[in-house]
Amino acid sequence: MLVPRTICAAALSVVFGVGVYAAADSLRSELTLPGVQSLFPGDAGYANASRAFNLRFTLEPVAVVFPSTPQELSEIVQIGHKNRLRVAARSGGHSYIANGLGGENGTLVVDMARFTNITVNPEARTAIVGSGNRLGDIALALNDYGLGTAHGTCPYVGIGGHSSYGGFGFTSRMWGLTLDNVLSLELVLANGTITKASKDINPDLFWAMRGAGPSFAITTAIELAAYPAPASVLIFQYNWQLNVDQAADALSTFETFSNKPDLSPEFGAEIVLTRGAIAGNVSWGLTGAWHGDPNLLNDTVAPFLNAMPPLHGVTFTPGNWIESVTVLAGSTLNTSSAPDYTDTCDSFHFLFYATSECASRFYAKSLVTPAASPMNDAARKAFMSHVAFQGFTTNTSWFFQIELYGGANSKINAVPTDATAFVHRSSTFTIQFYASSFNNAPPYPDSGFTFLDDLVDGITSNSPKDWDYGAYTNYMEDKLVDFKQRYYGSHYPRLLALKKSLDPTGVFDFPVGIDD
Ligand SMILES: Cc1cc2nc3c(=O)[nH]c(=O)nc-3n(C[C@H](O)[C@H](O)[C@H](O)COP(=O)(O)OP(=O)(O)OC[C@H]3O[C@@H](n4cnc5c(N)ncnc54)[C@H](O)[C@@H]3O)c2cc1C
Ligand SMILES: *[C@@H]1O[C@H](CO)[C@@H](O)[C@H](O)[C@H]1NC(C)=O
Ligand SMILES: *[C@@H]1O[C@H](CO)[C@@H](O)[C@H](O)[C@H]1NC(C)=O
Ligand SMILES: *[C@@H]1O[C@H](CO)[C@@H](O)[C@H](O)[C@H]1NC(C)=O
Ligand SMILES: *[C@@H]1O[C@H](CO)[C@@H](O)[C@H](O)[C@H]1NC(C)=O
Ligand SMILES: *[C@@H]1O[C@H](CO)[C@@H](O)[C@H](O)[C@H]1NC(C)=O
Ligand SMILES: *[C@@H]1O[C@H](CO)[C@@H](O)[C@H](O)[C@H]1NC(C)=O
Ligand SMILES: *[C@@H]1O[C@H](CO)[C@@H](O)[C@H](O)[C@H]1NC(C)=O
Repeated sequence: MLVPRTICAAALSVVFGVGVYAAADSLRSELTLPGVQSLFPGDAGYANASRAFNLRFTLEPVAVVFPSTPQELSEIVQIGHKNRLRVAARSGGHSYIANGLGGENGTLVVDMARFTNITVNPEARTAIVGSGNRLGDIALALNDYGLGTAHGTCPYVGIGGHSSYGGFGFTSRMWGLTLDNVLSLELVLANGTITKASKDINPDLFWAMRGAGPSFAITTAIELAAYPAPASVLIFQYNWQLNVDQAADALSTFETFSNKPDLSPEFGAEIVLTRGAIAGNVSWGLTGAWHGDPNLLNDTVAPFLNAMPPLHGVTFTPGNWIESVTVLAGSTLNTSSAPDYTDTCDSFHFLFYATSECASRFYAKSLVTPAASPMNDAARKAFMSHVAFQGFTTNTSWFFQIELYGGANSKINAVPTDATAFVHRSSTFTIQFYASSFNNAPPYPDSGFTFLDDLVDGITSNSPKDWDYGAYTNYMEDKLVDFKQRYYGSHYPRLLALKKSLDPTGVFDFPVGIDD
C-alpha cells in the first residue's frame, strides 16, 4: 500500500539520517564516471534538473545522472543497488506525479536525454528509437520515410514512459496503443544486467514491460512497428452547449454510435468537456481525426449527429499526415528547436479550447469504463450534473476527455488481455479528469482534489457495486487507494511474482508501482 510504504521510507531516513548524508559524499565519488554528467543537491543545474513537470511536486533526488550508453547506465544502476537507493529513469519527465524523479525524495534519477538515436528501417517498417526521445521527434523521423506510428498528441511527452504504460492517440483504434507496437526492447535490469526482451527473448519480462515497465527495468532502446502514413487526415471538432440531461444522453448516444458494427478504425475521437457558458450547461465537444477518405467522414458521423441536438459549431482541419500530427501537437514537433512550455497545459486542449489560464500545478484522475457494463443512466447523470454545476463554480481550470478506446473494430481491444501486462482490453472509454490551479502560487487548492474526487465518486457510487472500472497508468495518480485493482486488475499477481524474482530489493520502486 502506498501510505504505509511512504511512512516507512520517511522513518528510515530519520533513523539513518546521518548515514544517508555520509553516503552522499561517497556516492558523489562513486558516480563520478568519466564523461557522465551527474548533478547533486547544491550543484549548478541541479534545481533545474530536478524540477517536476507538475509543480504540485517538489522533490529532492539524491542525484540526477546523464548516462550516454547502456554500459554507463548499468554501472549507475549497480551503484544505486549497492547503496540501497531507489533508481528511476526519466525520459520526457511528463509523469503526472513526478515518477520520472522517483515520485519521492532521495531517488537516484537517471535522465535518458542522451539516448536520442533513431534508426528507421523502411523496408521492415520498423524503427529503433533511443528511450530518451520525445514523441514529436519520433513522428518527424518516421515521416521522412512516409511512415507513422501510434502515440499521443503532446510532442514533448517521452517515449520511455508513454510506451511503458499505454500511449493513446487518434490513430489507436487503427494502430493500437504505443505499447502494442513495441517489438523488442534493450534494457538494464535491477542488478545492472544489460539484456533484451521480445516475444522470443525473456518473454515474461517483455510481457511485463508493456503495461508496467518502470517497475522492472530501464529501457535504453525500443523497437517500434510503423505504418504507411495515411494519405490525408481530417481533424474534426463538433461543439454543443448542453444541459445536464442532454449531456448525459449525448454520452449514451455516442456510445451507441461507437458500437455500430461498421464503424471504421480510421475514426479516432474523444469527447471533450469544458466549462459551460452558464451554470447548469456543459460545453460538450466531439473531437478527433479521420484517417480515411475525407469525403466519407460526414457519412460516418451522420448517425451520431442525427441523434444529437443541433450543433453549436463545427471546425474541420484537413491536411496530410505530418500536418495533422503538428496541428494536434499545437506546436513544433522538433523538440530541440524550442523549449518545452513551463506549464502543464495540454497543448491540444489549449489550441482548441483556450478557455482559461494555464497553470503549473495540477491534479488528474482517470476512469476506464468496462465495455461489458458501460456507464448507466444514474452515473451519467451524476457525472454531467457535477460538470455542469461544480464545474461552473470550481476555482480551478479544468478539462475532461472521454477517449474512445473501444467501439467496433478497435485495434486496442483486438489484443488478447493476456498478451501484454496492459489489462484494459475490453474498455469503451478512458476518461481523463484534469484540474489545474488558476495561478502559479502554491499550494494546489484542496478544492481541486475534492472537485475531481467527488466527481469520480459520483460516477462509481451510482454504478453497480461490482462495476469493474479501471484507471490508466499513463494518467498516474498518487492518491489512488485501490490502485492494484484499478491499474493492473487480474494481472497484478503475475506482475508481483515477476517483480520478486527480477527486483527483489525494490531498486525500481516508486509510488503506485508493483511493490508489495
Ligand atoms: C501535456 C501532456 C500530454 C499528454 N498526452 C497524452 C496522450 O495524448 N496520450 C497518452 O496516452 N498519454 C498522454 N500523456 C501522459 C503521458 O503518456 C505519461 O505521462 C507518460 O508516462 C510520460 O512519459 P515520459 O517519459 O514523458 O515521463 P517520465 O516522467 O520521464 O516517466 C514516466 C514513468 O516512466 C518511467 N520511465 C521513463 N523512462 C523510462 C525508461 N527508459 N525505462 C523505464 N521506465 C521509464 C519513469 O520512471 C516514470 O515512472 C500526456 C501527458 C502530458 C503531461
Ligand atoms: C533545464 O532542463 C531542461 C530539461 O529538463 C534542459 O532542456 C535545459 O537545457 C535545462 N536548462 C539549464 C539552464 O540547464
Ligand atoms: C547511437 O548511434 C551511434 C551511431 O550509430 C552509435 O555510435 C551509438 O552507440 C548509439 N548510441 C546509443 C546510446 O545507442
Ligand atoms: C444552455 O443549454 C441550453 C440547452 O441546450 C441551450 O438552449 C442554451 O442556449 C445554453 N445556454 C447558453 C448560454 O449557451
Ligand atoms: C460535411 O458536413 C459539414 C457540416 O457538418 C459541411 O459543412 C461540409 O460541407 C460537409 N462536407 C462534405 C464533403 O459534404
Ligand atoms: C530539429 O531542430 C534542430 C535544431 O534546430 C536541428 O538540428 C534538427 O535537424 C531538427 N530535426 C529535424 C528532424 O528536423
Ligand atoms: C481561488 O483561488 C485563488 C488562487 O488560489 C485565490 O486567490 C482565491 O481566493 C480563490 N477563490 C475562491 C472563491 O476560493
Ligand atoms: C541479474 O538478474 C537476472 C534476472 O534475474 C539473472 O538472470 C542474472 O543472473 C543476474 N545477474 C547477476 C550478475 O546477478
